Amino acid sequence: MKTMLSGIKPTGRLTLGNYIGAIREFVKYQDEYEMFIFIANEHALTVPIQASELRKNTKDLIALYLACGLDPEKCTIFLQSDIAAHAQLGWIMTCMSGYGELQRMTQFKDKMAKQETGITAGLFTYPPLMSADILLYDPDYVPVGVDQKQHVELTRDLAERFNKRYSDTFKVPEPLVTKVGAKIFDLQDPTKKMSKSDTNPKGCIDLLDNPATARNKIKSAVTDSLGEIRFDPENQPGLANLITILSALTDEPIESIVERYQGKGYGELKKETGDVVFNFLTDLQARYQDITSSGKINEILNEGAQKASKVANKKIAKVYRKVGLTI
Ligand code: TYM
Repeated sequence: MKTMLSGIKPTGRLTLGNYIGAIREFVKYQDEYEMFIFIANEHALTVPIQASELRKNTKDLIALYLACGLDPEKCTIFLQSDIAAHAQLGWIMTCMSGYGELQRMTQFKDKMAKQETGITAGLFTYPPLMSADILLYDPDYVPVGVDQKQHVELTRDLAERFNKRYSDTFKVPEPLVTKVGAKIFDLQDPTKKMSKSDTNPKGCIDLLDNPATARNKIKSAVTDSLGEIRFDPENQPGLANLITILSALTDEPIESIVERYQGKGYGELKKETGDVVFNFLTDLQARYQDITSSGKINEILNEGAQKASKVANKKIAKVYRKVGLTI
């Protein structure tokens, strides 16, 4: 059985983008693959965050993983910080990375270009930590949204570099990017990624948003004045984003949606998409409530940590021997 691994960082509330680009894929593949899904809580420290907020986000993320359909019987769900090997291999991968190589990471470059203040060194070195997260488990595939693809490519380079320098140690993983919805865009500015760190809440749908509020966000999404329903992400990005959301949540192919809407207006498409989002969030949040009140989260994480640590500890011991840290 082939192996898959992915994670999400609990920096804020999860968005519809995280669901469509990542979690939906995890759920789809859990029957076919040996699956490791974790909460990248060490990555959340790359930006300042209150301890209480991090704890709350972490619990919400686990509950949402389960509410979205991840099944702890089928996949190993764990907390990154429960396994010390992530930070241990993270340091080694940081030392394997070139300074210039990390400077070329687009996410980091974008942050620098915006001249944001308070950029931490952790934000610069998080891609090698992400590589460590992946390489500890020898996955064949890493399902991610488009924005994380470059970091999986870096991981491939680091794995190959390590294997060459110290002999074969890591499997070289492949990024797996969904065909529909690898990048869901901001509803108010469809040239920007829908993001949890977004400042305009109208542009972003949180999975824990009130479903009626979310429906209104879809209704007031920015489109264009061309007045014709086509799937043209370049010239009609807002419309293409809505069609993508509708397609991802219903599994109806994009072409079929476009065909159904010939001769109809944007208002109708927004209404259907808004209703689909409303129903999706209503069902999801009902499951989320059940899970949060069930008290099962700790048990699931303990079991996940036990399973994951067996794999990770074996790998880090091997790496320590190879690089000469163990005498
Ligand atoms: P994060 O937490 O920013 O995002 C988690 C996943 O959601 C995807 N995603 C999106 N997909 C489509 N449209 C969007 N608007 C959108 N926004 C986010 C991301 O591409 C990602 O797949 N560094 C990672 C977390 C991480 C990780 C790992 C992932 C740490 N270690 C190892 C995979 C393997 C991050 O910050 O993702």
